[in-house]
Amino acid sequence: MLELRHLRQNYGPRALLKDISLSVAAGEIVALLGPSGSGKSTLLSIVAGLQAPLSGSVWFEGQDITTWPPEQRRFALMFQDFALFPHLNVQDNVAFGLIEQRLDKRRARAQALEMLALFGLAKHAQHKVWHLSGGEQQRVALARALITQPRALLLDEPFSALDADLRATLRDEFRSRIQAAGIPTLLVTHDAAEAQAMAARAVRLQDGVLEVLSW
Ligand SMILES: Nc1ncnc2c1ncn2[C@@H]1O[C@H](COP(=O)(O)OP(=O)(O)OP(=O)(O)O)[C@@H](O)[C@H]1O
Ligand SMILES: [Mg+2]
Repeated sequence: MLELRHLRQNYGPRALLKDISLSVAAGEIVALLGPSGSGKSTLLSIVAGLQAPLSGSVWFEGQDITTWPPEQRRFALMFQDFALFPHLNVQDNVAFGLIEQRLDKRRARAQALEMLALFGLAKHAQHKVWHLSGGEQQRVALARALITQPRALLLDEPFSALDADLRATLRDEFRSRIQAAGIPTLLVTHDAAEAQAMAARAVRLQDGVLEVLSW
């Protein structure tokens, strides 16, 4: 269980996050909607540990992790500009997280290949990422995020660079893969239909506060 408790953050004189509390259970996807500039990405970066909140706390499985550095949290982040490494092939992109965790390179590559097979991408293992379509690149990015067995997944508009058809296809695939991984997931999206398709619950961030949405 991931829990945000009474988070506040300012940007300059502006109160961006006023009193944000939210919990996300294991295997649950919660969608975070809200207008541009409302602070969605800021909230994710606080959860990831990339910036500290002004006050309030972040909890994971009963532990206060507010002051933990990102690598200690072991959360995976995936942004809209998915930032695969263009100079590495697909397999090495996926192995990267494991090598960073000091797993032996050969074992990391073998695990990456297994993960790619699971994602139907094994045939692209040796290709450079620019060889792949946008949707395939997003799949590689998710494979790379999940291979490290993160304790939570933070997705910031993962499909915004893709066309509508591809987005709809990836929604279902991502939802089932995330549910299979059984990890709490926060999904930032502009798209209410995407939120409905992927998440059991949704909240909207507006004027610094969260409103619970129901459908
Ligand atoms: N490091 C920063 N540099 C510039 N502006 C920032 C920074 N951090 C926060 N802001 C400001 O804080 C506000 C919230 O930004 P944030 O990126 O969190 O919004 P968002 O809801 O993710 O928007 P979008 O939907 O456009 O991605 C914006 O007004 C933004 O300009
Ligand atoms: Mg944003």
